[in-house]
Amino acid sequence: MCGIVGYIGEQQVTPLLIQGLKRLEYRGYDSAGVAVVRDGTIQVRKEAGKIAELEKVLEAEPVEGVYGIGHTRWATHGPPTTRNAHPHMSEKGDFAVVHNGIIENAGTLRKLLQGRGHVFSSETDTEVLVHLIEEMFERGEGRAQGSLERAVEAALGQIEGTYGIAVVSTRDPNKIVAARLGSPLLIGVGENGETFVGSDAAAVIAHTREVVYLDDGDMATITPGGYVVHRPTQGPVNRPVSHVDWDLSEVERGGYPHFMLKEIMEQPNTLRETMRGRLLPEDGGVKLGGLTGMDEELRAVERIIILGCGTSWHSGLIGEYMLEDIARIPTDVEYASEFRYRRPVVEPNTLTISISQSGETADTLWAMREAKQQGATTLGVVNAVGSTIARETDAGIYLHAGPEIGVASTKAFTSQVLVLAMLTVHLGRLRGTLSQARGREIVRAMHQIPEQVSHLLEMAPALQKLAEEYAESKNFLYLGRGYNFPAALEGALKLKEISYIHAEGYPAAEMKHGPIALIDEDMPVVVIAPKDAVYDKVRSNIDEVKARGGCIIGVISEDDRELVDVVDHVITIPRTHDALTPILASVPLQLLAYYIAVLRGTNVDQPRNLAKSVTVE
Ligand code: AGP
Repeated sequence: MCGIVGYIGEQQVTPLLIQGLKRLEYRGYDSAGVAVVRDGTIQVRKEAGKIAELEKVLEAEPVEGVYGIGHTRWATHGPPTTRNAHPHMSEKGDFAVVHNGIIENAGTLRKLLQGRGHVFSSETDTEVLVHLIEEMFERGEGRAQGSLERAVEAALGQIEGTYGIAVVSTRDPNKIVAARLGSPLLIGVGENGETFVGSDAAAVIAHTREVVYLDDGDMATITPGGYVVHRPTQGPVNRPVSHVDWDLSEVERGGYPHFMLKEIMEQPNTLRETMRGRLLPEDGGVKLGGLTGMDEELRAVERIIILGCGTSWHSGLIGEYMLEDIARIPTDVEYASEFRYRRPVVEPNTLTISISQSGETADTLWAMREAKQQGATTLGVVNAVGSTIARETDAGIYLHAGPEIGVASTKAFTSQVLVLAMLTVHLGRLRGTLSQARGREIVRAMHQIPEQVSHLLEMAPALQKLAEEYAESKNFLYLGRGYNFPAALEGALKLKEISYIHAEGYPAAEMKHGPIALIDEDMPVVVIAPKDAVYDKVRSNIDEVKARGGCIIGVISEDDRELVDVVDHVITIPRTHDALTPILASVPLQLLAYYIAVLRGTNVDQPRNLAKSVTVE
């Protein structure tokens, strides 16, 4: 996600901004820029791509000055181009803003501002902010006029969404105004009156370990003499100065030992971001901005083909079950690598859904192109904004899960399943195959998921203990049925790709057609058996495993009073809609795989032979 740096002091600011942005590279980004204020002008340099590209621009056109702001952008609205890179400037070039977060009412505000004569130069949501601040500074109610912090406060009062921002202006110079709501921001308290702003400690730790973490709703006005933290309607507030005792490598992982654990733990937030502004609980529907204007086309769809690889193929399988079970649309899931070369037949009125965290997986990209070439309508379910698949599909739905650094996909998977559930509700309500009442049930269940995942993450210590019992196993079998058959496949993939233990996922009933021959006391069997529509069937599969001496790790509902006495180890999950149980079942299995891998000393974030994005066939 985006990174923010700012500095006021006596040193040349540009090298400090670049250094701070480099320390934030781990957050994932696709463009970078700086704004430096000097002699009544704001000099902005920004460039798509890595910071090295920005450094080339600065080498050709250096900027000097003793205060300014910088930004690394993880695109959420508008592709990663130079034009969309931050900082964004007002038309007259006397205000500059950097922003981390999502402005949900940006579309409405952009229209209003354009109606009042503002000219926009980017496709971003952030740009509405700089125009609003300029407007408040010049014509705002009362105190906003002539004061940068008051103008920022008045502008933010019109924003719906999340932000971490830093603002500079030649109209109120020698000042950085920062504000935070939903996107972390801190102040670095330097020596000799120099002060820093940063998205996290990594941005400032080279210069100071004394930081002030802003709370949601806080603003800060930073001047050469120091800083004041204040809140609208409250005025100045005291925030403690904390001492950062992490080393830099830890700070980049937010204090976690591995990115994978950080990304498992941030799932409550990423699942909230995936749903932010998209649920319509009263209506029993959803609002997917990326599909605007496609109602007729989507009503005419007669068949859906889902394309993906690895974990994305697993979430696609769950999507298949949802789309047929709930929206009643004939759906098939294909390994993208197979689809492309088997001379598939794509009939008219076929919709393909290409699922890809990176949006760059070659197998999926080429399979999508094959389907498109045969006339299919193409949707992307992608995390990386502006990625190739996102750009080449006719439309799509972004995960908004933030960059996923660990090679083993975790938060992207759970967000993919959630997006597919929202898409299913959207199609079911649009085509009249899902009633408002049932739609409300599913939307209500979705709304509870982040809190339920938070509850599941509290079992991490118990899973760490369970991992100790099985870290030396040679083989694992994962079983599930219905919606949780794909969850079994995903649980097995998580384990095998980071611990190098052989693990197979299987439909629970299918186990008796072969794999049951493998079962003995040395093969742990994970069975996902929530109280869903196929619970009784899975229950008998468990009895079959038990009868052969198998050792069972049961993922069961927290109100299950039967299986708790049958399985050897219990992992409980809360009740939810059947279609959403794979999200809840997967979180403890991610943790189990993680702790087993850590015990085995593998490279958890970069497992051998694997890449985060397989851009070759
Ligand atoms: C999942 O943990 C793996 N890293 C891998 O299977 C991955 O899901 C697959 O390569 C697809 O990647 P994508 O979602 O970026 O297209």
